[in-house]
Amino acid sequence: MSDADPRRIDGVSALSVLRRGIAASPELRVGMPQTVVMAMSVAGGKLLIPLLIQAVMDLSITSDGVHMGRAVAMCIGATVLVVGSIQLGKLTYFRLVRTAEDVLLGLRVRTFDHLHRLSLAEHTASKKGVLTARVTSDVETLTQFAQWGAIAWIIDSVQIVTVLVIMAVYSWQLTIVVLVLHLPLVPILKWMQSRQLTAYEELRTRVSDTLGVVSESVHGVEVVRAYGHREPMRRRVRDAIDAQFSQQMVAARYFSLILPLSDVFGVSAIAAVVGAGVWWGDAWGVTSGELVAFVFLCNLLVAPISELGEVLDQTQTALAGWWKILDVLDTEVDLVDPVVPMPLPVGALALRMEAVEFQYRTGGRVLHGIDVEVAAGTSVAVVGETGSGKTTFARLLARLADPTGGQVLVGGVDLRDASPEDRRRCIRMVPQDGFLFDTSIAANVAYGRLGATDEEVTVAVEALGLTAWVEGLSDGIQTRVGERGEGLSVGERQLVALARAQLADPGLLVLDEATSAVDPETETTLERAMERLAAGRTTVSVAHRLSTAERSDLVLVFDDGLIAESGSHDQLVQRGGIYSGLYASWLGGTRHAV
Ligand SMILES: Nc1ncnc2c1ncn2[C@@H]1O[C@H](COP(=O)(O)OP(=O)(O)OP(=O)(O)O)[C@@H](O)[C@H]1O
Ligand SMILES: [Mg+2]
Repeated sequence: MSDADPRRIDGVSALSVLRRGIAASPELRVGMPQTVVMAMSVAGGKLLIPLLIQAVMDLSITSDGVHMGRAVAMCIGATVLVVGSIQLGKLTYFRLVRTAEDVLLGLRVRTFDHLHRLSLAEHTASKKGVLTARVTSDVETLTQFAQWGAIAWIIDSVQIVTVLVIMAVYSWQLTIVVLVLHLPLVPILKWMQSRQLTAYEELRTRVSDTLGVVSESVHGVEVVRAYGHREPMRRRVRDAIDAQFSQQMVAARYFSLILPLSDVFGVSAIAAVVGAGVWWGDAWGVTSGELVAFVFLCNLLVAPISELGEVLDQTQTALAGWWKILDVLDTEVDLVDPVVPMPLPVGALALRMEAVEFQYRTGGRVLHGIDVEVAAGTSVAVVGETGSGKTTFARLLARLADPTGGQVLVGGVDLRDASPEDRRRCIRMVPQDGFLFDTSIAANVAYGRLGATDEEVTVAVEALGLTAWVEGLSDGIQTRVGERGEGLSVGERQLVALARAQLADPGLLVLDEATSAVDPETETTLERAMERLAAGRTTVSVAHRLSTAERSDLVLVFDDGLIAESGSHDQLVQRGGIYSGLYASWLGGTRHAV
């Protein structure tokens, strides 16, 4: 149960999940009353045969003889109704599946959309996996449930209620007999089902053990042979398969019990109904037709009860998943778009930070009282020890998060008031890991601006002097970069990310250099590309290679969330503070990332 347990919700009723879920999924309400009425008619269709039998027996076989014509007419009528109900059943099923799929699609899209609107303060590294799970595996549990469980709940419960109502109309006394006999079935089924679930969970572990051993023996074939370990390996594989086999038998035992168990209850209910009916039928006013119909109705009661027993656990898991998804949807979006958006000026943008404070959801303050003023067109290098807040500073400039105190002004406009379209167009951040998608270099560069043409992509690559590098790749600009760009080296990934930024042509460029060292040749290409990209814009580069700082107009030295020093490279070197220390060690070292 290791996987399923965390999904369970304690102290939250199924009803409150349903209430919140229905409010969050308008699709669920579309045409629902009609669908429920249809499901009721389908369940009603199943009752036609018992009703027909009762009618034929009581109305055609009377004390004054057998009325054949009446019986045939009723049979024809019932046949028409049964065929109609089968058609209606098909339609209802499609409607239910359609609604379920609409709800899931809506939920997935809304959750995904919401995740993207949350600020980076919410997206802390440790949460990414969990957030991804919300739009994948949690929605998946709901999908599985929607495809069977939810539909079973509607059709089965309608069937149970309708059967009970008809029974009660025939004879409330016999109905009580049936109810009393079926009641114990509910806890027994629940217990068996939970045992069965545990057994299957255990079986899944055994299966993955077997797969693990088999795969290890295949991958490690050289070592196994070289060290003469064939016999012990074979024993391990055999043991794993044996364990899987025994567990399979345990699981099958529970499964094999469920069917006969329902039969036992069904048959005892029928026996009791027949016994009580024959004994007290006259006194209770039960006709022979009603008694026979009762026997058939009993059969229609056991099947939905045991099916509901089976879907109960699936329901619990799905409700837990649903609750978690709803929790994401309820997380407040902290990056609110302005009511009156202010346009950003065209061209290079000036920067100002006033008393900026920042802290992530977890941990203490990361930036304290940052005051900076940068004129339009300046190139700024941000340097400092690892963890000193450089990336965080860069993120605030691109409004990936809002400061927890103070304000960030770009082009004279507080970023919180800037028009989102302008912000996306005028400010570009090249992140530290230069995230690439698993597609071609061309497509990754084109990501820089919606609707960019192939030609514009080529121009951007050329403008940064990267044509020779691109042409040297196996498929040129169409070379696939692999998952997260892992088919390229770190430096090459940055090159693609720079071309992407060039295509966007922003007034403010925020570059977060990769920390890892880059080979000298790529380094030269990178430096040249960065220089060209910076021309005519305001650039803020988080610099790990101090050659970037050497070329910059202004250097900001971060130390534990504060700007400890600022000035030109030469000034700071002369001052003999933190920067001159960093620079000296960089010069004395390999001239690689600090
Ligand atoms: N998403 C996050 N959630 C919580 N804390 C974070 C997050 N990102 C960074 N931090 C913390 O904020 C501080 C500053 O991190 P930041 O990434 O800004 O440093 P940096 O100067 O860019 O470091 P590096 O040179 O290693 O890139 C660190 O103490 C870090 O642990
Ligand atoms: Mg960083």
